[in-house]
Amino acid sequence: MSPRTRRRLSVAAIALTVLVVVFVAGVALFVERPSTTVAADTVTTASKPATPTASFVPTIAPVPPTGGYALDFTLPTFGKSGCMVCHGDPQLTIVRGDQSHNYWIDQKIVDASAHAKIQCTGCHIDFAYTSPHKDAADWRRVAKESCKNCHPDQFRDYSLGSHSEKVGPGHTPDPKAANKPLCGDCHGSHAMPKLKNNPAGKAAEHALSQQMCGSPGCHADYWANYNDYYHGAAYKRGATDAPACWGCHETHATRNHKDSLAYTNDSQLASTCGRCHEDVGEGYLTYTKLIHSKQQTLDGNPVYSTVKSARTGMSGLGETIGSLFGGRGGK
Ligand code: HEC
Ligand code: HEC
Ligand code: HEC
Ligand code: HEC
Ligand code: HEC
Ligand code: HEC
Repeated sequence: MSPRTRRRLSVAAIALTVLVVVFVAGVALFVERPSTTVAADTVTTASKPATPTASFVPTIAPVPPTGGYALDFTLPTFGKSGCMVCHGDPQLTIVRGDQSHNYWIDQKIVDASAHAKIQCTGCHIDFAYTSPHKDAADWRRVAKESCKNCHPDQFRDYSLGSHSEKVGPGHTPDPKAANKPLCGDCHGSHAMPKLKNNPAGKAAEHALSQQMCGSPGCHADYWANYNDYYHGAAYKRGATDAPACWGCHETHATRNHKDSLAYTNDSQLASTCGRCHEDVGEGYLTYTKLIHSKQQTLDGNPVYSTVKSARTGMSGLGETIGSLFGGRGGK
């Protein structure tokens, strides 16, 4: 091969390499998707084709220390769609150090909830359309309490019960305040089912005892020992007629059984149990002790010990105890 041919060949090879590199880079550029993981303290979002609101022009900060979304924004669009311009984006993720959190709110979940028609700022009353959001210091608490503005009856009942904060004499703070549930602690946020005229929503709510009442830090122990055959065990198997915790404890004005107004107080049991049972007499009510069938209560109970040695299955036990207390109750 002449040096000339060799030179031509190497020029061709270089040209080819350059072409290949350019092509590969081009493909890479074309294929590359917006990354969801970015450096610390930045917000990232997909470069979306179009925002839901045509008139929306975000005021992007000139230097982007917070990434794609300027947190200092003013929205011309009020109402839910204003918030959903950003929060409707599945890729709205903020990364702080090695933690990342996604702030996407699924429109489908909101639309299926009881609050489909109310504004985001109905609950997030401390969130203006001008930001930074950071000004909303205790936003989580605010959102969990805002309910009282629209649900005054439930708020009144809740205020009477033992789950609300009780200021002591001389305005001393409630030492148990930190453990007491706010509305949003029991109900959650965006997925509350509609209950009125909605059997499916009612059924979903009915199944929530463990989440509402029995989570760690609340009454996990009473969730665990709510195990009697007719009520607790049946409930945990999915029986829709077995009472959820609030079937006996009242929904919002929940009180300790020592309080004479509590649904679980001895003086009220006939009416509480009477919601589901007819002819609730003294004897019948002794069953109450078995509802939170704590082992020591059971072991100390002559019926239980007798039946336990005679039977193995819990179902046998339940039926025997049930028949001792007068058979099936009416509903
Ligand atoms: C321009 C985009 C944008 C708009 C519009 C927007 N947000 Fe946000 N929002 C964000 C970002 C980004 C975050 C996460 C930022 C952070 O934690 O600092 C966030 C966080 C939140 C949080 C959690 C707060 C926290 O500190 O973790 C709530 C609640 C919230 N937004 C509600 C709303 C509501 C309600 C609206 C409408 C009134 C709204 N947002 C409008 C971008 C937006
Ligand atoms: C019925 C009251 C209510 C409505 C209406 C509501 N929120 Fe919320 N939102 C809450 C509560 C309560 C929380 C706190 C949840 C928690 O801490 O578990 C929350 C949390 C958030 C968060 C933070 C989520 C996170 O993962 O940290 C964002 C963002 C948010 N809401 C945006 C919105 C947007 C956007 C709308 C309107 C489409 C909206 N919210 C409507 C009650 C509501
Ligand atoms: C300890 C948990 C708990 C707390 C705290 C709580 N709720 Fe409820 N709430 C429930 C349960 C459980 C139901 C469902 C009752 C049913 O299906 O019979 C309910 C039902 C409701 C309903 C539907 C109508 C009704 O009365 O049955 C509304 C509205 C409501 N709650 C609002 C609130 C508001 C407002 C607050 C705060 C002031 C609040 N809740 C606090 C557990 C709670
Ligand atoms: C801005 C007003 C507003 C706020 C704030 C609000 N709600 Fe509601 N809520 C409504 C409306 C309106 C309905 C629908 C009532 C209906 O369809 O009859 C509703 C329905 C409900 C239902 C279902 C009741 C049923 O019978 O179907 C529950 C439970 C509920 N809200 C709880 C809450 C809780 C808990 C909060 C706070 C985290 C809250 N709401 C905040 C207005 C509000
Ligand atoms: C069929 C009625 C009934 C149901 C359902 C029920 N309980 Fe109870 N619960 C009672 C009675 C009666 C007492 C008081 C006497 C006792 O401790 O046996 C009580 C006591 C309690 C106590 C102690 C506070 C007090 O007033 O003495 C807690 C906490 C409790 N229950 C939580 C729950 C939880 C959580 C659930 C749901 C997993 C639940 N209960 C379901 C009837 C019931
Ligand atoms: C929300 C409804 C509801 C409430 C409230 C309720 N129960 Fe029941 N109870 C049931 C169901 C459902 C059964 C199972 C009936 C069956 O198997 O046919 C049952 C069964 C029983 C049985 C077995 C015998 C029989 O009558 O079927 C006893 C005993 C009993 N309950 C006692 C109580 C006592 C005591 C209370 C009050 C502390 C109470 N119940 C509250 C729904 C309830």
